Formats: sequence, C-alpha cells, structure tokens
Amino acid sequence: MPFECIGMPQGTKFTHRQSANTLKCSRSREDNRLIFQLFEENGGKVVGYVVIKHKFGDFLDDDRDELVYTKGAYGMSLMSVLPSYRSMSLGTLLVFIATREVQANGGRHLYIVNPLSDVFGFYLKLGFHPDPGGDAIRQQKIDEATNFTFLSENFVFATKLQIVRSHNLWRGQVDLLYTILLGKIAPLFQFHQPL
Ligand SMILES: CC(C)(COP(=O)(O)OP(=O)(O)OC[C@H]1O[C@@H](n2cnc3c(N)ncnc32)[C@H](O)[C@@H]1OP(=O)(O)O)[C@@H](O)C(=O)NCCC(=O)NCCS
Repeated sequence: MPFECIGMPQGTKFTHRQSANTLKCSRSREDNRLIFQLFEENGGKVVGYVVIKHKFGDFLDDDRDELVYTKGAYGMSLMSVLPSYRSMSLGTLLVFIATREVQANGGRHLYIVNPLSDVFGFYLKLGFHPDPGGDAIRQQKIDEATNFTFLSENFVFATKLQIVRSHNLWRGQVDLLYTILLGKIAPLFQFHQPL
C-alpha cells in the first residue's frame, strides 16, 4: 500500500517566525497519489499545494521503464504557491513536506517530470538536478517509438514522439534533499505537530 507511513501528519502547523502567520497542512490520498495543501489558519484559504506519486513511472505509458519505475522512486508534481504568497519560502516548505513524506515511506529518489524551465533555479537551490539516467530513458523511448512506427496511427505516433523528445527528468536524492530543506526551513518556521 503506497504511503502507509505518515511523515507529515494531517493538521501539522507551521508558524512563519517573521510574520507570525500560521499555516496548516492537509493531506488527502487518491489511489497512489498524495495531495498536500497549505491553508491559512485564519480564513482557511489554500495558499499552496503539491502532489506526490508513488511508482510515478507509469506516466511513461508502458511497462518497460525499468530505469524509472524502480523501488524507492517517487514523483512530485503540480507544485504551486498562490502568486501573492510567493517568495515567502512556502515553495520550499511544500518541497520539504513532500520530501519528509517520501523519506518516511522509504523513498530514495524524488523525481520531477518536465519541470518548467522558469523554475530550474528554484529546484537547483533545493538540491534537485537533471537525472543522470534521463538521457538514456529518452533515447530508449525514441528507439521504441521509432521501431514500432508501423504499429501506430500516424497522429498518435507523432504526438508520442514529440512528448518523448521533450521528456525532461529531474530528481533529488531524498536524504540529501531532507538535510538541505530542513536547514532552510527550521530557522524560518516553527513546527507544531497535532496532538
Ligand atoms: C515555483 C514556486 C512554487 C516557488 O514558490 P515560492 O514560495 O515563491 O519559493 P520560495 O520562496 O520557497 O523560494 C526558494 C528559493 O528559490 C528561489 N526561487 C523561487 N522561484 C524561482 C524561480 N522561478 N527561479 C529561480 N529561483 C527561484 C527564491 O528566490 C528562493 O531563493 P533564496 O533561498 O536564495 O531566497 C512558485 O513560484 C510557483 O507556484 N510558480 C508557479 C507554478 C510552477 O511553476 N510550479 C512548478 C512547476 S514544475
């Protein structure tokens, strides 16, 4: 069962030391996806969210992605902070929450599929980097798609090839990410675990 262990309990609160604003974390599970949201404690507005996925390799659309679909591989997606709340370390806090959860569940690597180039700098600062195996996976996918051209509808093939060619995989080593993120988050936020 994915996400059997709880790294970040429902209702954990984070008080931003400088502003004294408190944010509350909620978690909900849908199949093998776990959704974290950060709410304002007063008012209940959602200010950011992130989704983590176990065995995220199935996004690649077949069963042969041994390099990605390995034990301990988790994916992170749909990371977002409300525009008026950006540059207050909430993005960092969300990645910290995701990493803590993945670590508690034995994850070794946290992947990001097709990160937007606008935010490469953000992910690099937190300890992510292009996946060293990413090029091999991309080449493997191109080879597979090319070799099976005759089995595909033209449109589907072209679309698939385009997706594969632009496939960009980043990842971070979970224990290392956790150390980096805790170092950034601990001075900025006070944690309150629910009773
Ligand atoms: C990316 C995003 C989540 C960052 O959230 P945030 O709360 O503003 O980020 P933080 O305040 O935690 O920033 C952490 C560090 O990254 C830097 N940073 C933030 N966004 C950056 C960017 N786009 N490029 C380069 N560095 C960035 C910050 O300056 C900060 O640096 P510092 O530690 O030296 O001060 C937010 O901009 C967002 O929601 N963007 C739109 C959705 C999106 O692009 N999601 C990613 C999809 S792959």
